[in-house]
Amino acid sequence: MIISIDGPAGSGKSTVANILAEKLDFIHFNSGSLYRGITAYILKNNVDLKSIDSTEIKLETKFENNTQQVIVNNEYMTNFLRNNDVSISTPQISIIPKIRQIVDECQRSFCSKNNVVIDGRDIGSYVFPDAEYKFYLDCAVEERARRRYLEETKKNPNISLKEIENQLIKRDETDKAKKIAPLCIPKNAIIIDSTSLSINQVVEDMLKYIKEFKKQA
Ligand code: DC
Repeated sequence: MIISIDGPAGSGKSTVANILAEKLDFIHFNSGSLYRGITAYILKNNVDLKSIDSTEIKLETKFENNTQQVIVNNEYMTNFLRNNDVSISTPQISIIPKIRQIVDECQRSFCSKNNVVIDGRDIGSYVFPDAEYKFYLDCAVEERARRRYLEETKKNPNISLKEIENQLIKRDETDKAKKIAPLCIPKNAIIIDSTSLSINQVVEDMLKYIKEFKKQA
């Protein structure tokens, strides 16, 4: 069974997906990690983007000790996924058609054999339009910025709330304007606005929908 959660950056998709998966005894599959893994590989091995179409990229993902491992051309990339340079370069790498195709194939192959809660930006709209349950987690940009600010100031005390809000606004625009698989509300998705909800309230809402639909089916 596939449960998809899409939504803008900072809406809490990944945290919610993680808790929901745990409650349902499903696997939490994070699609962004695959884009990050390939980016980490490209940076580490100085792959020239001009020759990306002729570069062999074998992408694998598996779960070890409850952690999603990302392996590119037999190299484990998991430890580099959250590095700053990887976060900065992933948006550019993730718009390359060949990369999207590789990630899509990896997701489809893994998720067709497992019960997963998968979060991303194009999951219910493009990768798994027939997923059993599709959620779109929305949240006002001011609130997303406030949450990010609380996180970020631990690492970077000089960053301002306004700067984070502007970064998020820019990121939303790029994600929505992407030529392939832009961020959008998937057809038939259940929209949850988390602006004034806690993480646990969002998870409870999702569980309610899942039980309700089960009853109707
Ligand atoms: O969710 P995240 O920040 O880990 O995502 C990293 C990057 O990957 C981000 O630039 C958007 C991209 N991405 C995507 O294009 N499609 C997805 N399904 C997930 C992530």
